[in-house]
Amino acid sequence: MQLSDQNQYTIQGIDPTQLTEKFGSPLYVYDGATIRRKTEALQHAFAGVNMKIKFACKSNTNLAVLRLMKEIGVELDVVSPGEFEMGKLAGYDASQITFTPSGVPFYEVKEAVEAGALVNVDSLPLLEWFGQTFGNTKPCLIRIKPNVAAGGHEKIMTAHADSKFGISVLLLDDILEIVKKYDIKIIGLHQHTGSDIKDAEPFLQVADILFETAKHFPDLEIVDLGGGFKVSYMPGDAVTDMTLLGNKISERFKKFCSEYGRELQLWFEPGKFLVSESGYLLVTTTVVKEDPARNFVHVDSGLNHLIRPMMYGSYHHILNVSNPTGEEKPYNVVGYICETDTFASDRNLPEVRQGDTLAFLNAGAYGFTMSSNYNARFRPAEVLVDNGEARLVRRRETLEDLLLTQQGL
Ligand code: LLP
Repeated sequence: MQLSDQNQYTIQGIDPTQLTEKFGSPLYVYDGATIRRKTEALQHAFAGVNMKIKFACKSNTNLAVLRLMKEIGVELDVVSPGEFEMGKLAGYDASQITFTPSGVPFYEVKEAVEAGALVNVDSLPLLEWFGQTFGNTKPCLIRIKPNVAAGGHEKIMTAHADSKFGISVLLLDDILEIVKKYDIKIIGLHQHTGSDIKDAEPFLQVADILFETAKHFPDLEIVDLGGGFKVSYMPGDAVTDMTLLGNKISERFKKFCSEYGRELQLWFEPGKFLVSESGYLLVTTTVVKEDPARNFVHVDSGLNHLIRPMMYGSYHHILNVSNPTGEEKPYNVVGYICETDTFASDRNLPEVRQGDTLAFLNAGAYGFTMSSNYNARFRPAEVLVDNGEARLVRRRETLEDLLLTQQGL
């Protein structure tokens, strides 16, 4: 969002308050230009190697966003049959979709593989079953747990020894035994370290582990290093230096490929990096409550729409788009859910008045996709702004939507 010379916030020249007037509040808005820019930055950083981006669509499954991804040459990483179907609805061929499940029933994997997706096998029982079922007729990747602890919050770390994800690198002998027993065609190794990882070091550390492990698999075509690049949530936040990371990883990857004797593909599966900064949750101030202890700003939203602050203590920057030049005051910005759903404590904001539109930044990743109907509230509508035009890409829910699956009405 830009602040114009006239002190007016805009998204591609559009005043956000016009969007809430037209499409209602609360409202998720995605800026397509940001998605394009972030994707280009990642492509640019790895221009020297054969790199492919697989968007981790758990972060945002709006079909308009998926179609935009497809248009700009980004493929998909999915974690469920639902995401897989959404990818196909968005126009992806099954072969462009990787299924990275976590302890799912085997039949989900079977269906995905038979439909043409590649799967990241994440446990020894799944590998055994894969071998029994497909032998050497279908290729797969193996998700390795490198036992490296990195990530912004313990809940979003996925590669440390205690993590449930992947097959520990310490079990390499067991992996090789099953692969040999069924002659399974392993075409890739995968790992995902976690989310909100700022420094290049953990990426390099896991890359080295994967490159070392790769030497035991002669038919590899892919090394998939997952996602997890850190984006800026707080003004001035240190973020992953993509150019530096691109240079360092590309250099090691090239060295690995020459040792391996073949040019492989390097895959990444970013979610946040591509979409977090593109998204805004626009809300309306319902009540400003001056309390002896605190000034509370209630908004027409809550943990049902954006749970990250309550779940991980995440910081989301807030703009008062209705009063950008107001005098700053400290507020607790809270939701309307019957829980303590605090978006921000003691946050300085330009004076907030009842009816003001506030914008939560970085709402493009794990915002809508983690939303719920708690308190029988409706999920917001979603709008994509692309090429200067704002388009409704999901309508607001209604009571009928909430009652759709209830029986005996
Ligand atoms: N690949 C795999 C296998 C993953 O599990 C994830 C995220 C990603 C890629 C993408 O990670 P990203 O680039 O978005 O950091 N809800 C949490 C984040 C959970 C991430 C789960 N896995 C949050 O809002 O911070």
